[in-house]
Amino acid sequence: MKSEEIRQYFLEFFEKRGHKIIPSSSLIPEDDPSVLLTTAGMQQFKKYFTREKDPIKDFGTQRVASIQKCFRTTDIEEIGDERHLSFFEMLGNFSFGPIVNDDPNDYGIGGYFKKASINWAYEFLKSLGLKIDYVSVFKGENNIPFDEESYNVWISLGFKKEDIKKFGKEDNFWGPTGEEGPCGPTTEIYIDNIEVWNLVFNEYYQTADKKLEKLKYPGVDTGMGFERLMKVLQKTPTIFETDLFEPLRTYVLNEKPDIAERDLRIILDHTRGAVFLIADGVRPSNLERGYILRRILRRLMLKLKIWDILSKKDVFIKAVIDKFKNIYKEIDNYDKIKEVIDKEFRGFEKTLERGLREFNKRINGNEKEEELGEKLFVLYTSFGLPLEISKELLKNMNIEITENSINIFNKLFKEHQKISKNI
Ligand code: GLY
Repeated sequence: MKSEEIRQYFLEFFEKRGHKIIPSSSLIPEDDPSVLLTTAGMQQFKKYFTREKDPIKDFGTQRVASIQKCFRTTDIEEIGDERHLSFFEMLGNFSFGPIVNDDPNDYGIGGYFKKASINWAYEFLKSLGLKIDYVSVFKGENNIPFDEESYNVWISLGFKKEDIKKFGKEDNFWGPTGEEGPCGPTTEIYIDNIEVWNLVFNEYYQTADKKLEKLKYPGVDTGMGFERLMKVLQKTPTIFETDLFEPLRTYVLNEKPDIAERDLRIILDHTRGAVFLIADGVRPSNLERGYILRRILRRLMLKLKIWDILSKKDVFIKAVIDKFKNIYKEIDNYDKIKEVIDKEFRGFEKTLERGLREFNKRINGNEKEEELGEKLFVLYTSFGLPLEISKELLKNMNIEITENSINIFNKLFKEHQKISKNI
């Protein structure tokens, strides 16, 4: 099945069960100043979990479902491996308390909890022909009790004890997004050893000073990574061969059949990420969201340049827009998106060219840790080559930069800043 069909199927599945379908919110959170970008489906619903807003009044039901655009920035440097992404989509169903009926056969509009949500997740995956390998539940920790209810629901579905793993807070407790918000124990579903679906039972509110308070009503917040779901459905080696990265992947491979896998993944991820961020109004800058966009655009430009496919950039942008424009109207804005990327690329082009030249001239790969830190510092301060671009170039030479080299770089950089300030 194609991703377009799965989108439809997921939303219809939950619509049938009393959920109102809510469009994705922007990647720039409207109501959550404590986070830079939208990182989860529940974010636009935070105030329904706390009951500052009334779901019945706004949606006519306590049940909603969405496919949310998300952007996570913690792992930008990891992108290029098999599983990390900056931009991704998350399918989710949500219930805002109070619990009215937790029976999975109830297709009404009242709040539900663990029994209904676990049963529906199981039913949904089964109907797609997927077999769950194992699940996990919260084992109880830090005065938060073992989630016996979820455990028993899985038992009632025929799961063996050894296929219901019990983990602590580190693995099976989710949230909040940002500084404070709803959070709670989770049960997670694994297929082909990949965590596909995370069912969060929002029973608590974590305050800004990190205290857990019981929410007045418990709620449900589930998140299923779309790329991961498509990977297990389409049985591809990694998420990057799923149709969510087409036709871009084919276009890049047509140009460069021998492109390094890691660089291909970076191009796929960063092109999508940049297009979606720009469409939601983010502009490159040295601050916050703008800096995130700048970093991925520069890394993208580096990869396109190294592989000599910079001239294909517009075709690549178009491929992403064409794939998603019927789902997210805001990205149907080729001229603006191209204009922003062109401007950033133009501004970085000279620095990158000179930086690459100097890098190749100065770095041979045999440097000692201290010497490498010093050289990278010179490349940055004298030629403007950002450290992360140098890191990327070193990675292409199979060199992982050590902490010692980074410390030397930072030390020199601090001294340099002090001197610049005194002048
Ligand atoms: N809100 C659930 C998740 O992001 O996994």
